[in-house]
Amino acid sequence: MPDWTPPEPLAPTADGKLRGVLGGTALYDQPRHAEIRARVDAFVGADGPLAVEIGFDHGMRLLDHARRWPDIRWLGLEIRKRRVAAAAPHAPPNCFLWRADARTVFTAVLPPARVSWVYILFPTPTDNPRHLLLSPALVAAIRRVLAPDGAVYLATDVQGLHDHAAALFDGWPDAPSPPMGPVLSRRERVCARDGLPVYRLCRRAPESPPADGA
Ligand SMILES: C[S@@+](CC[C@H](N)C(=O)[O-])C[C@H]1O[C@@H](n2cnc3c(N)ncnc32)[C@H](O)[C@@H]1O
Repeated sequence: MPDWTPPEPLAPTADGKLRGVLGGTALYDQPRHAEIRARVDAFVGADGPLAVEIGFDHGMRLLDHARRWPDIRWLGLEIRKRRVAAAAPHAPPNCFLWRADARTVFTAVLPPARVSWVYILFPTPTDNPRHLLLSPALVAAIRRVLAPDGAVYLATDVQGLHDHAAALFDGWPDAPSPPMGPVLSRRERVCARDGLPVYRLCRRAPESPPADGA
């Protein structure tokens, strides 16, 4: 889908919340989610670098990374309930698989300057603005949670999606590749099998704070 162009992102609501997000960005402030919130906070707050993979699907790659790098804490975010339920029993103690919308988690759950690596592997090239993952709001949220030496890594076989991401991360310097094991994500296996090109970027946040303080 080389000619994909992003839909216009939905404007935030008057109170600054993101629209289109599963359950709303204030979801995990609600008492009924207090238990999962406490578990996530404890997992994220424990010692060790934190890596987050957005949209891990079957989770093969993420589970392999977690076993391969036991000193890193691996948080996987995926909105498909069944995928999470199937993968979660196989997660080692340094890996937490959570059925949650990454837009909410980055905006309202993760603490500032905590995350060493964000992996975004083959995000869906959607035409629905409510489902659009990569937006200025997500970039601002990633910037908020990245550690000073942290980086965001993105791979896609959709050139238009790569161009969209490159524009969103314009001004972010190139960064060294994050930990990368031999197990490929499902989509990357398809690309390798079918000889499809894969476009990648790995960036760190610019040093100066954004003008709006985000
Ligand atoms: C095209 S698939 C790619 C799956 C996998 N990363 C790969 O490389 O094969 C995109 C995945 O992201 C998940 N996803 C989409 N939007 C998401 C969001 N806002 N938060 C978490 N996961 C999301 C989808 O459910 C799907 O599993």
